[in-house]
Amino acid sequence: MFSIKYLGHSAFLVTNQNTRIIIDPFFLKPMKDFQKLAIDYVLLSHGHGDHVGSGIEIAKACDARMIAPLELATFCNKKGCKVHAMQIGGGYDFPFGRVKLTIAHHGSGYDLGGESFAYMGNPCGFLITIEGKTLYHAGDTGLFLDMKLIGEKNSIDAALLPIGDNFTMGIDDAVDAIEFLKPKLAIPMHYNTFDFIEANPQEFKDKAEARGFKVTIMQIGETIEI
Ligand code: NI
Ligand code: MN
Repeated sequence: MFSIKYLGHSAFLVTNQNTRIIIDPFFLKPMKDFQKLAIDYVLLSHGHGDHVGSGIEIAKACDARMIAPLELATFCNKKGCKVHAMQIGGGYDFPFGRVKLTIAHHGSGYDLGGESFAYMGNPCGFLITIEGKTLYHAGDTGLFLDMKLIGEKNSIDAALLPIGDNFTMGIDDAVDAIEFLKPKLAIPMHYNTFDFIEANPQEFKDKAEARGFKVTIMQIGETIEI
């Protein structure tokens, strides 16, 4: 059993008795005392600023290990982070449980400022299995048919799905994603944070529930048990 706390946008804190994992830690309100978060692992799905967020600072302040696609992990390593590089389709058994990288249809460049933009490899999603429960964080992605395969090969307890449209799936595609993934619970993310991704999570919930699926809209700061 583990808890997930919604930190806004696509950021979640996943914790059990032993381990504290933060995924795509982009915070709307600037945060300072990262050490207090006591993070053990930082998972980054891709190189965009609204996902890398404060990840490098957190990893350094907490002496946490960063788990990310190889190019992004290498970049973070050069910035002084402990890293564990992976690639799509690969899984690894960490002390806390297993992480497997899934495909995500998206970009991953990191804006270095000025005219520089760094290549960060492929974007990904994460399948995280802790004590027999599986969480799927889709990252930023459009709908893809291989979600059916992910759903067939994994019993997903909770799926974190982007619904904001424009850069990722919108509501209707995200409902189709639930159909493919068959999670026990779906949770919307990546909406209403900034322009172009306005979406009504209640519409997502209503449309999914009309098709027999369960959705929980998490408030920022809310924690649920999986
Ligand atoms: Ni992105
Ligand atoms: Mn994004």
